[in-house]
Order: sequence, then structure tokens, then C-alpha cells
Amino acid sequence: MCGIVGYTGSRQAVDILLDALKRLEYRGYDSAGIAVCGKGVQIFKDKGEISSLEKSLPRIHGTVGISHTRWATCGKPSKENAHPFADCTGRFALVHNGIIENHRQLRQKLESEGHRFTSETDTEVLVHLLEANFNGDVHSALRESLKEVKGTYAIAVASSDSNEIVAARMENPLVIGLGVGENLVASDVPALLNYTNKILHVMDGETAVISPDSVAIYDESGAEVKRNPSTVTWTIEDAEKGGFEHFMLKEILEGPSSIHNSLLGSLDGVEEGEFLQDVGFKSVKIVACGSSFHAAMIGKYVIENLSHIPTTLELASEYRYSHGTKESPLVILVTQSGETADTLAAAREARRRGCRTLAITNVVGSTITREVDEVFYTRAGPEIGVAATKTFLTQLVALSLLAMRMGFARRQLDHERLRILKAELRSMPRYVEAVIDGAQQIEGSVEMLAGARDAFFIGRNINFPTMLEGALKLKEISYIHAEGYAAGELKHGPLALLDSRTPVVAACIKDHTYDKMLSNVSEVAARDSPVIGIGYEDDMDLRSIVDRFIGIPKVDPIFSPIPITVVLQLLAYHTAKRKGCSIDKPRNLAKSVTVE
Ligand code: M6R
Repeated sequence: MCGIVGYTGSRQAVDILLDALKRLEYRGYDSAGIAVCGKGVQIFKDKGEISSLEKSLPRIHGTVGISHTRWATCGKPSKENAHPFADCTGRFALVHNGIIENHRQLRQKLESEGHRFTSETDTEVLVHLLEANFNGDVHSALRESLKEVKGTYAIAVASSDSNEIVAARMENPLVIGLGVGENLVASDVPALLNYTNKILHVMDGETAVISPDSVAIYDESGAEVKRNPSTVTWTIEDAEKGGFEHFMLKEILEGPSSIHNSLLGSLDGVEEGEFLQDVGFKSVKIVACGSSFHAAMIGKYVIENLSHIPTTLELASEYRYSHGTKESPLVILVTQSGETADTLAAAREARRRGCRTLAITNVVGSTITREVDEVFYTRAGPEIGVAATKTFLTQLVALSLLAMRMGFARRQLDHERLRILKAELRSMPRYVEAVIDGAQQIEGSVEMLAGARDAFFIGRNINFPTMLEGALKLKEISYIHAEGYAAGELKHGPLALLDSRTPVVAACIKDHTYDKMLSNVSEVAARDSPVIGIGYEDDMDLRSIVDRFIGIPKVDPIFSPIPITVVLQLLAYHTAKRKGCSIDKPRNLAKSVTVE
């Protein structure tokens, strides 16, 4: 996720571009840049936040320009990798949000034609393509260039000899703000609200030409599209959260697109070995904290199931004080922030023990990326709510892809099973969308949980850790005491705590543990505990024995933690909201835990 802004009008562009860009800082903040067209195209960029770029800027004159705030996905955060990028002739400046999947092939081709690259980014291929396809008209050149591109984008281009900004969109947000004698284009509405509340949405496959007095939008065939502007009534603060009351809800709803981004380019890597090329390790250890540890627990099931490689788990805070063994496994460190002190210490300890290390993280250039041998990025985009939501889902996707890679390379997974698993992952954004669309199902359950002091979350097998995560979500944002339990363990103690005031949330997926789970649900119901059952949407048996039923699409059981987690996140969110809790910043908790 990155933020882009373009301005064309009669005012000094630099002031407007910086002010508007600051409204998009929630979309990324590791580097920023600006290009203003006056005497040629002048580009200024730097690592760090927009405020530090602002301090270093000279007075730049010009009434047309583009700007960018970056959340790195390809190439570390640095001045060289910051946007905008210029072509070799210095005619164009370009900013981009998204991922160009075939950038390696395009770069090779362009370099062989003589184009010189200055960054490690996927984006830079776009501006060189533009130069190669330019025949006097920037809009046509951009349309031609996009025919060669595979991936997702929101793009804005400014050029030295024109007051037009040319833009394009594919699966990344882009809106145009209509002013008087001036127009803007941006990744999101908050950037525009200081200047106008008249908004035009650009749709997938469309391009736009924006000048001070006119805006034209074109569809994929090049035909002009007529669309009426809408009037936005949100405040800037509301708009930063996409009109939602809390970042947590916005981020839960971003789950489908985060999963989609996480899969982009990586699904093919399973066979081709773009990641984890050498699979010659005998065992795997996964180390993490908090929600990331729950993802790790789910990862163990997936790795052992798909690759048969023995996998162990350790909490990062325990690992460094444990005794090492003679074997030196592949150690996978899972951390969305890449800055958790315990996980960093564990990474150092793993290397000291001679293990090969791989980090799964969401933050390009974070500390962990400098401490390990290999990095797998989850590409969920920035997460602001303290409770991990979309980053957790993408950790599950990352661990699944690694497990598929291990299984395929070790010949435990044949082509047919791999094909089915890949298709299932490709459908995952749709499945999660279906859970979000069916969110009204959870209303009765929210009421049950909001009135409780204690709650239990139970599951078996791969969904035991899913329920640990459900319990953690509920306790951290609603302050209700919640315990996750392996359903088979209830009778060994906690059953004594169940009564009519203690709701139990149970995940019952039709896998080899299903019948046992139904028995556990009956045991719980016999103690008068109200039961919330989560199962496949057509599961009449489960529906008939629980007090509240929440249906999910029929996914392969190995990926069922993903949609079930989304149900649990929504349950926690709405329960906390009902109780009036501080959802995005729960008491005593921080987003990044940098102390041991
Ligand atoms: O950044 P990390 O993934 O390393 O963070 C680990 C935990 O601190 C984190 O998952 C924490 O448990 C979240 N608040 C859970 O929602």
C-alpha cells in the first residue's frame, strides 16, 4: 500500500501536494517524494516520513506535480527506491501504488534496449516503458505500456511539456477530485477533502487525463466514459478510516485484498523455487510471539500435512533461554512488524546455533530483515489497529505457500493436489468476502459475548490454534477473559468452569475431527453453556445443536483457519464496540513490542 497525489491548476503545486500527501500517510511512510513541472521535471525524494522530505525541499515553482508516500514491497526503503521515477530523457515523472508481477522480465528487455535503471523497484519499469512507447501523446503511451504489464496499479504521470496528469487504475484505489480551475488525483478521498468534496471514482482498467479545466476518463478500449461525480460528506478524520469508525474494522475488511496481494507473484514461486530454493533441511522450527505465534501453530499443521517435514514451535521469549539441540533446523521467524524484541533476539540466537533463518514479515526493511538469511514478505499493507487482523491472515497465506513449496520440492505433493490447493488459495479473497458479506449472522453471538465475564474458544487439530487466536482477539480489545482450548482437553479441567453465564465458541469443520467436535459441543451444552458454532454454511447437524450458528464457505479444511479467523475478528470487534472499548488502542498494549 502506498499513497499517490497529483495536482494541476494555478496554485503552487508543492504546497498542495505535500498537504494532501500527509493525509495518506496511513498508507505508508517509509519514504516520500515529489515531482513538480515548471522548468522541466524537478524530482525530490528521500527516505523517511513526509515531514523530513518537506524540511529538505528548496522552493520549487510549478503548478503541476505528483507526489508519493511509500510502503515498500519491492526494494528496501531508501532514497533511490522512493518515487517518483524519471525516464532516461527526464521528460516524465511517475508514481505507482501496486505490484508489477512481471517486472523482472520487463526490466531485462528494457535494459537490453539501453534503458538505465536507478532503483531496485518493480515500479521503475513503468516509466521506461512509457519512454519506449512515447510517440507524442502520453495517454497513448501509457495505454500501450499497460498492455505489457501484469500486475496491479494506480499510476499518475506528469510530463515536462504539459499541464496534464495521466493516470491509470487496476485493483488499486484511485479517485479524482474536481475543483474550480484545478483538479487532483489521489489514492484516497482524505487527500482531496481540503480542496474539494466532488469526487470521481476511477474503475479497474480505466485511464484518465486530468488538466486544470477538464477531466476525461477512458475505458480499456479507449472509449470515453461519462460518470457523474459524487459529493463526499465525511470529515478528513473519518475519511482516513475509509468512513469506518475504527481502523480495526477497515483492516478486517481489507482482508480479501491483502490476501490477493500476498499471493501475487508468489503462487508461481511454489514450483519455480523463487523462495526457499534449497529445501535440504531435516526439520523446521517456527518461532514467534502473540498472534504471530498462533499463525505459527497453524503453520506447523500445514507444513507437516503437505510436506511431512517434522515441525516444532517455540515462543520467541522462551527460545533464547532454551537448550539448543544437535539438529539445526530451518528456523522460521514470524513477525508482522519485524521489530518485536523477543523475535529479534530469537533470530540472533538461531543464527548463533548455526541454523538457517527465514523471516515472514509485513514490513520491508524492518530490523528482522537484516538479521536473517531469507525474507518472505506478506504484503498486507500498513496495519494501524493494535490488534493484528489482515496481517495475521497473510501470515497464514505465507506459511501455506512455504508448506506447498516444501511439499512440492520434497515430492510429497503431486501436481494434481498442488493445482487444487492453488485454486483454493486463489479463491480465498472471495471466500473471505463472503464471510464479510454475511457478517449480520454474528449479531446474536455478539450479544451473548458482550454480556459475559468469561468465554471459551474451542477447536481441534488445525483449528485449535485458530481458536487461541479468537480468544486473544476478544480479550485484547473487549477485556473479556477468554481462553482458547483444544476441545479434547476440556474434560481434563476447564469443564468445571462452564455454566449458563460462560459462552463457548466452537469451530467444527468437516474434517477427520468433526464427530469428536460435535461430541464436545454436546458436552458443553449439557453444562448449560450457550454455544456459538462456526461451521460450513450447509451444516445442518451443527446448526441443530448450537444456540447460534455462523456459516462459512466450504473451503478445503487445511485453509479453513482463514475464513474462521475473519468470523472471530468480527465477533471480537463488534463485542468490543458494544462494550464501548477503545478498539484501535487497547489499554496497556502497543502495536510494536520493542522491549523484552
Ligand atoms: O509484530 P509481531 O507480529 O512480532 O507482534 C507479535 C505480537 O506482539 C502481536 O501479534 C500481538 O499479539 C497483537 N497485538 C495481537 O493482536
